[in-house]
Amino acid sequence: MNTIPSPTVRTRLAVLFGHPLGHTLSPAMHNRAFQFLGLDWFYLPVEVKPENLEKVFKGLCLMNVGGFNVTIPHKVAIKELLDELDPLAATIGAVNTIAVKDGRTIGYNTDGYGFIESLKQSSGIEIAGQSVFIFGAGGAARAIGMSLAHSKVGKIFLTNRTIDKAEALAMQINSAFSPCVEVIDPESPDFTRALRASNILVNSTSIGMSPHTEQSPIAGDLLHKDQIVADIVYNPLSTRLLRDAEKAGCKTVPGPGMLIHQGAAAFSIWTGKEAPVKEMSEIIYNHLK
Ligand code: ATR
Repeated sequence: MNTIPSPTVRTRLAVLFGHPLGHTLSPAMHNRAFQFLGLDWFYLPVEVKPENLEKVFKGLCLMNVGGFNVTIPHKVAIKELLDELDPLAATIGAVNTIAVKDGRTIGYNTDGYGFIESLKQSSGIEIAGQSVFIFGAGGAARAIGMSLAHSKVGKIFLTNRTIDKAEALAMQINSAFSPCVEVIDPESPDFTRALRASNILVNSTSIGMSPHTEQSPIAGDLLHKDQIVADIVYNPLSTRLLRDAEKAGCKTVPGPGMLIHQGAAAFSIWTGKEAPVKEMSEIIYNHLK
């Protein structure tokens, strides 16, 4: 039996802030990791309304909290409440992980790192010099695009339903790193050219998420077997995009990988220990099956 020990006054807390927080898998994943390594830590999800963020955060900082996770809608607002920001989190402009060290709070962003780690683990690829086609220009695309540029990717083709958002994100990545991003209008002939020229495709939109499980950001016949196809959608586990990619002979990178590896990175930031990724993955996949 994998029962989680009851917390005591000495138990360190890792607290997740978000609103709403209905269906988060992070508590199960992190509490399993703490238990597996025998660490006296407990992961607690807390729903916090935006207007209460500062009060709740400052109050929790007075308690035995060793770290935080932050999710929608607080990832940007929380920056203002921290003592320090890691440079990549500052460039991304959003924080999903906070370490509390000697009473100081330090903000990180492990989302993009989590995606890249998942890509590397599933495909064995190194990022430097690769050509990546990204669908989407929301928060996830921002973390992924910035982190790819930070890892010295060769080229990013970026497209989005709302093209102005892709233009704005491209400008920000190109000015923070080398100018590697080209915006692709989904209606233009460039779309097919850019897709064919990319060896990694990433869906960072919510297209294909349940209940719209027959939707995909790309027609299956545009995929070719030398491509690696990644989806950040993990409900369903096997999205239409990933099923089409498998049929085309592509390597695939399933959605839970980003969730697991962003969590593993946060775990190491809080505890200073290597995260038990295998056990964390088992918990996530058991919940999603
Ligand atoms: P997240 O933080 O998960 O990235 P987000 O910031 O709301 O969430 O971004 C959602 C992304 O999915 C956006 O790129 C969005 O496109 P728009 O910028 O045009 O809104 C994209 N998206 C969501 N639903 C979509 C749909 N039905 N078709 C195309 N793109 C969609």
